Amino acid sequence: MMRNRPALLSILLLAGSAAAMAASPAKPPRWSADEAKTIAAWQPRAAARPDPRVEARIRRILAGMTLEQKIGQMTQPSILSITPDEVRQHYIGSILNGGGGWPGGNKHAAVADWVGLAKAYDTAALASDMKVKVPLVWGVDAVHGHNNVFGATTFPQNIGLGAAGDPDLVERIGRATARQVRSTGIGWAFAPTLAVVQNQRWGRSYESYGSDPALVSRLGAALVHGLQGKLTGDGDVLASAKHFVGDGGTWRGIDQGENRAGEATLASLHGAGYYAALDAGVQTVMVSYNSWARDGAANMGKLHGNRALVTGVLKQRLKFDGLVVSDWNAIEQVAGCERDHCPAAINAGVDLFMVPDNWKTFIAKTVADVREGRVPMARIDDAVSRILRVKLRMGLFDRPTTAGALTGDASQLAARDLAQEAVRKSAVLLKNDGAALPLAPGKRLLVVGAAADSFPAQSGGWSLTWQGEETDNADYPLGETLLGGLRRVYGADNVTFSADGSAFAPGKFDAVIAVLGERPYAEMKGDVRWPAPLAHSALYPDQAALLGRVAGQGVPVVSLLYSGRTTYATDLINRSDAFVAAFLPGTEAGALADLLAGRQGLDFRGRLSFAWPNTACPSGGEPASERLFSRGFGLSYAGRVATGRLAEAPILAACP
Ligand code: BGC
Ligand code: BGC
Repeated sequence: MMRNRPALLSILLLAGSAAAMAASPAKPPRWSADEAKTIAAWQPRAAARPDPRVEARIRRILAGMTLEQKIGQMTQPSILSITPDEVRQHYIGSILNGGGGWPGGNKHAAVADWVGLAKAYDTAALASDMKVKVPLVWGVDAVHGHNNVFGATTFPQNIGLGAAGDPDLVERIGRATARQVRSTGIGWAFAPTLAVVQNQRWGRSYESYGSDPALVSRLGAALVHGLQGKLTGDGDVLASAKHFVGDGGTWRGIDQGENRAGEATLASLHGAGYYAALDAGVQTVMVSYNSWARDGAANMGKLHGNRALVTGVLKQRLKFDGLVVSDWNAIEQVAGCERDHCPAAINAGVDLFMVPDNWKTFIAKTVADVREGRVPMARIDDAVSRILRVKLRMGLFDRPTTAGALTGDASQLAARDLAQEAVRKSAVLLKNDGAALPLAPGKRLLVVGAAADSFPAQSGGWSLTWQGEETDNADYPLGETLLGGLRRVYGADNVTFSADGSAFAPGKFDAVIAVLGERPYAEMKGDVRWPAPLAHSALYPDQAALLGRVAGQGVPVVSLLYSGRTTYATDLINRSDAFVAAFLPGTEAGALADLLAGRQGLDFRGRLSFAWPNTACPSGGEPASERLFSRGFGLSYAGRVATGRLAEAPILAACP
């Protein structure tokens, strides 16, 4: 397996000469005592060896660029807001599609449509009147497979991969995802998320591998290796370590909120994954929406405006020499900034600006900032050098990502075996009393719960659409629901599906399979804001009632929960003989059926990557007193553990 190991190489080389060779370095800022303390909390990293040929080429290209061309390179509009010809006219360096941004606004766009659009942008970028034409790079949220594309296999969301805990699996998922992305002509995936989540109220908890920084580091690095490969191959894409830094530690788990950690915690807990991702050679880092209030004291503002962290830590202390990209319209949240104007973020060290819609005025206002001295030219040159460096390193000047061996190959979208393996490895068995599982094939099953036959429920957010909603099974032509898997394994005649449980009758069935699930959500829309209880029954009382109808009637009940978080569920676990946390398995949830049957000796091997709460009012940070099951917990058939009745906690209307 070939890997990029700039950190390793650098040990052999002098860091000092590295800095001297980089094109037009910006003048190092003078740090206040406070800033210096923030920076010193991070372990220094050695610099990677710069490639003198690349650095010389950067200097040559940069020397021939006008200011407008430089700012164009620093701009990343959404495909929904820019035409290929505008890319040419404005020297745009990068474009993106956000969650649910498809070519022609068509949810069912085919690989050929994606490639057609990507080629149009590529061609336009190379038709500009720049002295040296600079190719464009397209970024996409391929965060659990190429999840915006109709017909693409998606893999379990990261919370499930955390439970699988298998770096080799994650690396292979990265390889497969990169091939999917390259088949559509795209060259950059906005992954992995390195959040070390402290509070499951956060709607992005499932984007995190877990609450253990060491696990996040291992799996994050594995995904970078998988996505980027050797960087220049036909099946390689850029990765993005996101969101720098502290996204998983916001107060009460509020999305885009305030991280109140001290500098040591920020560096060692929330920052842990960045060392690993940088060592793995990640070429881009995305800044986070959150703010930082050191030790809960005065808020120092949004990360996008924090020069000590973006420049002082990431670029100087950690020697990151790739590009820093802002998050979607995030600059408007920096004090004194607007959606299309933020000299503070440029001066903080952001290089490429995700300004999905207001890109034109962003360019005009930024050009004026430089002309009028609000942003130094050296900072612009540093930003553009980094953008060029990444493009040169990935071989974009030699061959666009729309002209690779995989371009247009729709067969790359399918990776079913790999996804099935991941689904089986990521499910965690929380209870299995009376050896309710495995359930031998041939048993008569009653399947209840609408989620049993719902691709949207098993996929979660960032699935075809941003929120993963406004979709139905017809939007998923490839894959298998759990119901489909059960019919395959047990035979259609032995499986009765009754979403509302009305077909239940004692004596008719050997077991009930109850499939519970959250409605899909992404980002802030998935927050369960304090004081609302974080309890599945409180959020989905109809599902608790459904379980009540089939439980305790002499027929064993096996419950599976699709969720983007660990959440209070003791009441549901008590009403079930066996209980499986399946998280968000993606398009191949049917593979769970093989596991339930214990086919070919299959057994559960998933282990919780977050503690499971014993309270509906968790305080954050997973204190021992609030754990029903600790991180690392997970049963197996071989183990034969009896759980018995667990102590239930009240589900209050509002947490105190
Ligand atoms: C998210 C990022 C994502 C970006 C582009 C933002 O809202 O925070 O994770 O990469 O949108 O879709
Ligand atoms: C986009 C997402 C983005 C979000 C940010 C949505 O419209 O599709 O990609 O993350 O806005 O709020």
